[in-house]
Amino acid sequence: MTSQLESRVREVCREHGSDPVRLLDIARAVQSEFHGVSQQSIDAIADEIRVPRVTVEACVSFYSFLSVEPRGEITIRLCDDVPDRLAGYETVRDAFIEALGIPLGGTTPDGRFTLERTACIGLSDQAPAALVNEVPVTDLSSDRAREIVASLTEHGDPKRLVRKLGDGNNAHPLIQSMVHNNLQYPGEILFSPYNRGEAIRKALAMSPAEVIRSVKTARLRGRGGAGFPTGMKWDFAREVEAERKFVICNADEGEPGTFKDRVLLTERADRVFAGMTIAAYAIGAGEGVLYLRGEYAYLLPFLEQRLERRREEGLLGTSVIGKEGFDFDVRIQLGAGAYVCGEETALINSLEGNRGDPRDRPPFPAQSGFRSSPTVVNNVETLCCVTRILEKGPATFCEFGTPQSAGTKLLSISGDCRLPGIYEVPFGLPLREVLELAGGETAAAVQVGGPSGKLVGPEDFDRRICFDDLATGGALVVFGPERDLLSIVSAYTEFFIEEGCGHCAPCRAGMPAMLDLLERVRAGRGESADLDRLRELGDTIRRTSRCGLGQTAPNPILTSLEGLAAEYESRTEDNDTGLQRSFDLDAALEPAQAIPGRAPSHP
Ligand SMILES: Cc1cc2nc3c(=O)[nH]c(=O)nc-3n(C[C@H](O)[C@H](O)[C@H](O)COP(=O)(O)O)c2cc1C
Ligand code: SF4
Repeated sequence: MTSQLESRVREVCREHGSDPVRLLDIARAVQSEFHGVSQQSIDAIADEIRVPRVTVEACVSFYSFLSVEPRGEITIRLCDDVPDRLAGYETVRDAFIEALGIPLGGTTPDGRFTLERTACIGLSDQAPAALVNEVPVTDLSSDRAREIVASLTEHGDPKRLVRKLGDGNNAHPLIQSMVHNNLQYPGEILFSPYNRGEAIRKALAMSPAEVIRSVKTARLRGRGGAGFPTGMKWDFAREVEAERKFVICNADEGEPGTFKDRVLLTERADRVFAGMTIAAYAIGAGEGVLYLRGEYAYLLPFLEQRLERRREEGLLGTSVIGKEGFDFDVRIQLGAGAYVCGEETALINSLEGNRGDPRDRPPFPAQSGFRSSPTVVNNVETLCCVTRILEKGPATFCEFGTPQSAGTKLLSISGDCRLPGIYEVPFGLPLREVLELAGGETAAAVQVGGPSGKLVGPEDFDRRICFDDLATGGALVVFGPERDLLSIVSAYTEFFIEEGCGHCAPCRAGMPAMLDLLERVRAGRGESADLDRLRELGDTIRRTSRCGLGQTAPNPILTSLEGLAAEYESRTEDNDTGLQRSFDLDAALEPAQAIPGRAPSHP
């Protein structure tokens, strides 16, 4: 007999066309309605969309926002990223634990609440922060945590936790969020006034090849981290003959400490969609997808409305602004909490309804990506730059920046500084000047580019923010002199261990080995040979990992070994005695002692 649950799950599948490519949406919808994707739901989904059961199970087990075990009606996801820890995460966590009477990871016996920790949710400038279902709550304290639990117990509505709306579009009726933009330093490219349709009109008056030439003349490089020349990527996709081509906007923004794309999506959504449309025209694509990280689901109704308005204005749809033969539209895909899905091939797997495992390259997405078709993947900020280049021409864009890094860079600054938030600065600005702008002059170290970037000390503060010096996807986390820098390195290393997909051994096995060595050193039991081991292991993992996650995962340790050598040496220099200090006799004996249940009699 078909249960109520099964028939409803089948209905959810049919609402998504029983299309296997929509598996992630289906699983998200089932999770939100039933607070979990149970074994019975997995059976029903697999049968309804006609994929092996294991495909559905693999998808559900991969994403942190999905779970086979039932979760509470309300899930509180407390962000434990480094800026949150600096701002008091532990006291807030303890207050939630006490008020709810459950441990982290637990669910209340009445099934109302689940309390979890989560990696960066893109709110580092207003930390400590959490998501209550999809509602962001910011600037938490232990008192506020207790109040939140009391209000939710009373009315059960996370939206009613928002007492004061944030600035700009955060107060829009379709967002109604307490999030703030903290736009401290708007620049002349991304945050300049904007006329909807201007860039598209100018682009469509040119040939696709001319549009690509403009982007190349502007020397635009991707803002998602790797800095690949955008015009060149578009050329690759344009050259491939194919029935279908796709443009994907990467709005996964999972690099801890990065929140610039959130602000662009909130305040410059039309610039992003215009950039996607221009990219589509340039490469000959008809379909676009904006992959929005699950943490930003609260922006979805607003972004959908912006898309609808563009359709009504003829800026999307059949014959965009009357251009015969150019049809283009965009849909939004929500992610479900997986950092690795920001890697473009993992993102494409996720879009196709699979686990977000990275793919082998080649083929590159521009040759064969989404649905095996040529696909351009660009970052939110890159697409905003495209729009500006088409609005004002490449020369205006190149007035900012350096020869290798034209234009401006949007920085998300958080941590120990007086003015955390968003800064649009010309490429080439020395880090020291950026720190002065943000009120972080007393910094002892800065994590540039998130954990996959570099941890640098004061001797690097005169280096410049640009691709050929201190490259960054956008995150700067500032650490004051009182911070224990190696505990920060350890937290970032744990982040990579948790977020790796597990596919390849160097990343899966090598990173925990690096963390073990680091912990020995931190505990004062390491020797200088351990530092050499860390360097060797890190180098091997960098060279042999399959995707960018593993290739950058050793960076927090390797770059701090370079930039903050004294931190390590002070913990190891007294240990180079020839005895193997790193060997912990008590820890080694522990398992053997546990069997008879007694400790050794020797002192
Ligand atoms: C683990 C990992 C996570 C990534 N996360 C993001 C992300 O959140 N946003 C992004 O634009 N690029 C991210 N990237 C880079 C993308 O793979 C890709 O290079 C980028 O989206 C291309 O856009 P761009 O050329 O405009 O920079 C990530 C890469 C790796 C290895
Ligand atoms: S490097 Fe890590 S994240 Fe990348 S494929 Fe290998 S295991 Fe997965």
